[in-house]
Amino acid sequence: MIQVEHLQKSYKSSRGFWGRSRQDVLTDVSFHLNDGDCLGIVGESGSGKSTLSRILLGLEAYDGGSIRIDGLPHHKWIKQNKGKFSVVFQDYRTSVNPNWTIRQIVEEPLRMLHGGEQKQKQTSNESLIAELMERVQLPMEYLDKYPHELSGGQLQRICIARALTTRPRYLILDEAISSLDVSVQSQILTLLKELQADFQLTYLFIAHDLQAVAYLCNRLAFLRDGVILEELDCNHYTCAKSEYVNQLVSSVLPFESGFTRTREGLTS
Ligand SMILES: Nc1ncnc2c1ncn2[C@@H]1O[C@H](COP(=O)(O)OP(=O)(O)OP(=O)(O)O)[C@@H](O)[C@H]1O
Ligand SMILES: [Mg+2]
Repeated sequence: MIQVEHLQKSYKSSRGFWGRSRQDVLTDVSFHLNDGDCLGIVGESGSGKSTLSRILLGLEAYDGGSIRIDGLPHHKWIKQNKGKFSVVFQDYRTSVNPNWTIRQIVEEPLRMLHGGEQKQKQTSNESLIAELMERVQLPMEYLDKYPHELSGGQLQRICIARALTTRPRYLILDEAISSLDVSVQSQILTLLKELQADFQLTYLFIAHDLQAVAYLCNRLAFLRDGVILEELDCNHYTCAKSEYVNQLVSSVLPFESGFTRTREGLTS
């Protein structure tokens, strides 16, 4: 279980006197993530969603507050659980090396994790990669291709396979479907739902699309002005207290989607 309490993060800003002021991005962010959860994080562009992801992945330091995983301080847990926190980014083209084969791309986290021992693990890696290629529904021949030979949806499937090679427990999906066209988005959402069950994953799903969030997530948090403005159970959108959240939720209601299951409550 992940517990985030009063998290703060600011960046140096070029604005202000002598350009020395700081921009507060996260001022007081608190939430928890239970094992097996899919928590959706929704927020306007620039609200700090990716900053929060980088902090959770251990790629960036935070200024205040605390993060604990299974009761351990975040940095300690990350050190003891290499590869157990993984990520899929929005921009699948720039998140892969265009000069590498798909095999090299998928194997990269294993090389980073096992380093010199890599050779001895070759056989087990091969079966793991075959399993992952099957799970993301791509033939093994694709391993010899290069990124430019794949469609957007195929390449994002490869990024998902790559994120799973280290058998993570937590997977951050940072706008992972936003750059795909609508029909591919729904295929990837279905795949993510299956993978969550099969690999017992806990997701942090960052998205702008409330309908996608409603389909995949069981809880939803709205990030605004540096805080979690409100957290909702995905089956009870009606319970939103803030005007901002109510407006966002109502704006997607006319569409058919995963929201169907929440509509009853909303229209009653
Ligand atoms: N390394 C950095 N240095 C300075 N400022 C940064 C840095 N990274 C992010 N920021 C600033 O922090 C704020 C939040 O950025 P972030 O990328 O986390 O937003 P976001 O919610 O992910 O936005 P989007 O929905 O557009 O992806 C932005 O104003 C951004 O300019
Ligand atoms: Mg972002």
